[in-house]
Amino acid sequence: MLSYRHGFHAGNFADVLKHIVLVELLDYLTRKDKPLEYIDSHAGAGLYRLTSAQANKTAEYEGGIARLSEEAFPELSQYLSLVREACGGSRLSHYPGSPWLARHYLRSTDRAWLYEAHPADFATLEQLMERDNRVRCQQSDGLKGLLSHLPPTSKRGLVLIDPSYEVKSDYQQVVDHLIKAHRKFPAGVYALWYPVVDRQRIDRMEQQLLKSGIRRMQLFELAVQADSREHGMTASGMIVINPPWTLFESMQQLLPKLLGKLDQQDGFYRCEQLAGE
Ligand SMILES: C[S@@+](CC[C@H](N)C(=O)[O-])C[C@H]1O[C@@H](n2cnc3c(N)ncnc32)[C@H](O)[C@@H]1O
Repeated sequence: MLSYRHGFHAGNFADVLKHIVLVELLDYLTRKDKPLEYIDSHAGAGLYRLTSAQANKTAEYEGGIARLSEEAFPELSQYLSLVREACGGSRLSHYPGSPWLARHYLRSTDRAWLYEAHPADFATLEQLMERDNRVRCQQSDGLKGLLSHLPPTSKRGLVLIDPSYEVKSDYQQVVDHLIKAHRKFPAGVYALWYPVVDRQRIDRMEQQLLKSGIRRMQLFELAVQADSREHGMTASGMIVINPPWTLFESMQQLLPKLLGKLDQQDGFYRCEQLAGE
């Protein structure tokens, strides 16, 4: 039985980076008047109450979303206004997960496939998405589910792969499935989230992805501490395949600014073109 619950981490510095990139992708891809399929292989509960005991056990959101304001970050107005909308007011009472953010962008012809394995988080997610016939929730393995949808009938797809990496073999599984998914649907836009707990694992991931021959691949990472194997997650990042042409430049400007706002010691950022055209 898996023990990871995203409610303990919702709104932390890793969620902030992940969701900023996700919102950029959703915004760009839903500008074109053609149906889009969104696949979230590890969806979580969808919406998190920041006043809950879970969220306040370590109050990670205080080092993440609580540090950002629309005044300081006008360029993040879309993301920050969605967080405000999820709170239903001005107080930071909730934090939206990836399914909540994605649903905001769905048009009547778009579809979302959400996979979540944990029974309690799945029940919350299903309830949140109830009566939305654009969305399907599945309580099954998201990586297998992902492959079953590709290529999507609409031929336009955004895939978020955001596992908890609770089991060490997840790192390899994720890379294998991403490579398979890309082979089935090379035109898809893929966003893979990763935590840096042990840098060697991420180096290996990057090398394997590069070796696979996948092109048009960018990496965005934010570290709140120098690499260390003793301090848990010191950094996290997103690897994006087939990114919109606007993404790299906006992240290049944003990452140093974000780093300056977060609670960090010897932190750094990476904004890299892993593979070109
Ligand atoms: C990092 S959280 C997801 C957060 C969410 N994507 C967001 O951004 O709001 C990872 C989730 O994956 C779920 N999970 C773990 N193994 C899974 C699997 N094999 N298939 C689907 N979900 C899984 C966990 O229960 C957890 O809720």
